[in-house]
Amino acid sequence: MGNDFKKKVLSRRTFAIISHPDAGKTTLTEKLLLFGGAIRDAGTVKAKKTGKFATSDWMEIEKQRGISVTSSVMQFEYHDFQVNILDTPGHQDFSEDTYRTLMAVDSAVMIIDSAKGIEDQTIKLFKVCRMRGIPIFTFINKLDRQGKPPLELLAELEEVLGIESYPMNWPIGMGKEFLGIYDRYYNRIEQFRGKEEERFIPLNDDGEVEGEHSLKTSGLYEQTLEEIMLLNEAGNEFSREKVAEGKLTPVFFGSALTAFGVQTFLETYLQFAPSPKARNSSIGEIDPLSEEFSGFVFKIQANMNPAHRDRIAFVRICSGKFERGMMVSLPRLEKQIKLSQSTSFMAEERNTVDEAVSGDIIGLYDTGTYQIGDTLTTGKNNFHFEKLPQFTPELFVRVSAKNVMKQKSFYKGIQQLVQEGAIQLYKTVKTEDYLLGAVGQLQFEVFEHRMKNEYNAEVLMERLGSKIARWIEADEVDENLSSSRSLLVKDRFDHYVFLFENDFALRWFQDKNPNVKLYNPMDQHD
Ligand code: G4P
Repeated sequence: MGNDFKKKVLSRRTFAIISHPDAGKTTLTEKLLLFGGAIRDAGTVKAKKTGKFATSDWMEIEKQRGISVTSSVMQFEYHDFQVNILDTPGHQDFSEDTYRTLMAVDSAVMIIDSAKGIEDQTIKLFKVCRMRGIPIFTFINKLDRQGKPPLELLAELEEVLGIESYPMNWPIGMGKEFLGIYDRYYNRIEQFRGKEEERFIPLNDDGEVEGEHSLKTSGLYEQTLEEIMLLNEAGNEFSREKVAEGKLTPVFFGSALTAFGVQTFLETYLQFAPSPKARNSSIGEIDPLSEEFSGFVFKIQANMNPAHRDRIAFVRICSGKFERGMMVSLPRLEKQIKLSQSTSFMAEERNTVDEAVSGDIIGLYDTGTYQIGDTLTTGKNNFHFEKLPQFTPELFVRVSAKNVMKQKSFYKGIQQLVQEGAIQLYKTVKTEDYLLGAVGQLQFEVFEHRMKNEYNAEVLMERLGSKIARWIEADEVDENLSSSRSLLVKDRFDHYVFLFENDFALRWFQDKNPNVKLYNPMDQHD
């Protein structure tokens, strides 16, 4: 393929924003979309989060709880770049969805609330990015409010997350006294208040404002110069390589709500963020610039539009070019599929997509063919990309149809929601009871709600509480080892799993049965 294709691939910047709920992910996303011209009015993303889908009962759950349950993809052009932002659900009960989304990006933006510092959910998501070795950019938000001292925030980054940091800019005051940012990268000051034409003050070679300026009368200016000196002398050096390896995070300060520092962030980010990288597969690395089309399904969402009852498989393109109507193979089913129904994602609408390249995300209308983790390719070699991380569920319920006459809808609903990755399904070995496993309680609630509203199947759920799930390496297991304290079940791929009542039961079992090799899939990527 020609230079045009190459140029397109190299212009892609595909990332996700990670944060603890309330740090400002929605607000920042909205501002990025505004700068990218993808939306015209502020409030659009917010509206989506809280009001626009009010007709959907499922979204109603989201609204009531003020959390974002769904993930979506937002695409826009900025200068010469094609930006793809993958949204992730903020609530920790949906971290499984978030983790899979992080497999589809090339970099991540981590937002930190300057008053709260590093919070639990940030730590978890950060670890996943770390495991993938993708570049992480930090946006420290809400500088228009009083927060922790910036040096303390940097220390937290290094101590709690164990990543080196390099402040690209530095706040001059904060809260009521927030004057702006001292931009080390562009060697200028960006003022928070004042006229647009006075927004930037250039700095001289010594990094100071030349001549007289009202800013210099503030004690904060002097303090900032001292802090910058400290950073220059004792701080980390900037290294493009370390950023690319995810070992050093460039840090930006700003205020998403007032859109301050956001454009500067976006422009700098685009310069350093990577274009699509080669991906590991069963036949080695797949080059994003290679001609053969390939991609994988990282997310399936049913009934996105309740009026149409559609189901969409989200595919991250890893190489080549997608053209509507092309034939691809799905190695898992050894099947050829024509990709005729596809969609791209714009912030405000879904459009039919005719063409897309490595780095892009496309949506395929699905009638139940795809599963999470499926590889699609036009190559002669049938291969598959690295497996998506599997989560070890911690909470379990026994589930059955309330109305035996509705068994058919019940099975259909369960099957679809499990394929979607909304919840995990297990069957007890002897009685074939259906058990559901989840990371967080909210997943059960959404499941129950969706079964009723989307599949017209009311369910009975009997809580089994928390269990420790351990997979078994062998294909055969003595089913008599199953007891109430160590329940033997099979996952949906027919692999044996023991559900232990607690740590004690696990240890007791291991002592008694040293030949049964147990493992936790999460350990492979902790
Ligand atoms: P999330 O998606 O990460 O959960 O966070 P979201 O953007 O919804 O922001 C959480 C709250 O923080 C919102 O306030 C939002 O307005 C506020 N916020 C975001 N960025 C900034 C900022 O730069 N400065 C200040 N001061 N606040 C910020 P809320 O009261 O919960 O919602 P709303 O009533 O404003 O919509």
